[in-house]
Amino acid sequence: MIKACIFDLDGVIVDTARYHFIAWKALAEELGFEFTEKDNERLKGVSRMRSLDILLEIGGIEMEQEKKEELATRKNEHYRSFITQMKPDEILPGATEFIKELKQHSIKIALGSASKNAMTILDRLQLTDWFDAIIDGTKVSQAKPDPEVFLKGAEELEIAPENCVVFEDAEAGVEAALAGNMKCVGIGSPQVLGQANLVISGLHEMNFEKLANL
Ligand code: BG6
Ligand code: MG
Repeated sequence: MIKACIFDLDGVIVDTARYHFIAWKALAEELGFEFTEKDNERLKGVSRMRSLDILLEIGGIEMEQEKKEELATRKNEHYRSFITQMKPDEILPGATEFIKELKQHSIKIALGSASKNAMTILDRLQLTDWFDAIIDGTKVSQAKPDPEVFLKGAEELEIAPENCVVFEDAEAGVEAALAGNMKCVGIGSPQVLGQANLVISGLHEMNFEKLANL
């Protein structure tokens, strides 16, 4: 019996991966190495500092913590210059419709995102009021694949984990949902997200009936 849906943000409700990519790529170029779209796949669902560590590993660069924090801040400023300009028409196809359908069926809705910029994005997309609970990167101490972000969402909604479904585009996010004893719908490729209970290419393929059959 499904009583709540918990949504990841980046890659599920909105395609912010390309903004992250532009900002990380600019940083890599400054440091003197190439950063490709394929490399960018490794950063999906991963926290900002861990993303920087992966980027530096790709470039074969080591540096002190203080310098790393400066670079992460600079990348985030570049990234924020894009997201602060976002408009509701950047919501991915089907997301608004599916959320409205869930509301009609009295299903609770939470956000479970690693991003510390989630509130800015939800506000720009005018989606904030749809969520009964919002858990973002400012509220968790353990990164996905740890289930903390989703468990906190379920707790705030007062719904047992086994009655929750998570929507995720990152492998670490699917693992986190399953580790939290929740069902999971993967958004993306079955090759990457095969562990999920169902894999679809986007929320435009989702509806209440499919949810009830999970
Ligand atoms: C996740 C993204 O949602 O948030 C990652 O998939 C990103 O790519 C992470 O690194 C942290 O985001 P932010 O906005 O706090 O830098
Ligand atoms: Mg994501």
